[in-house]
Amino acid sequence: MRGLVLKNMEFKAGDKLKIKGLILHDADRFQIDLGYDEEDLALHFNPRFNDELDGTVFVCNSKAAGCWGEEKREINNTQNRKGEDFLLQFCGDMFEVELPDDQEVHFPNREDVDIIKYLRIRGDFKLTSFKIC
Ligand code: GAL
Repeated sequence: MRGLVLKNMEFKAGDKLKIKGLILHDADRFQIDLGYDEEDLALHFNPRFNDELDGTVFVCNSKAAGCWGEEKREINNTQNRKGEDFLLQFCGDMFEVELPDDQEVHFPNREDVDIIKYLRIRGDFKLTSFKIC
């Protein structure tokens, strides 16, 4: 699975992450994970295109000590699957993901994390650039 992992970053409340890339034409799923490490995630943002329950859906979840929390699902209304810009904002008590068609996905900061150290982007998404702003 293609991907990118960043460790030792310092992403704090008020910070934004701009992620640009291309969704592969036969994409099944990809994910953007933010947290402390692979086993402790404050946000797992997981667009799926062939989900058995919902078809095209954004699945969000958190993970604590390796255990997934309760999934939050939002139907994906985004039509354009070729190029995507995601603006991901850490607002302290929640995460906001802004999609190109103005759809927004919100997810609470369940683990009360202050600083995000770890970022992982992987799956059927060709990352072209990202920046913290
Ligand atoms: C699982 C899946 C994980 C993750 C999780 C989110 O079913 O295997 O990769 O997406 O759901 O709740």
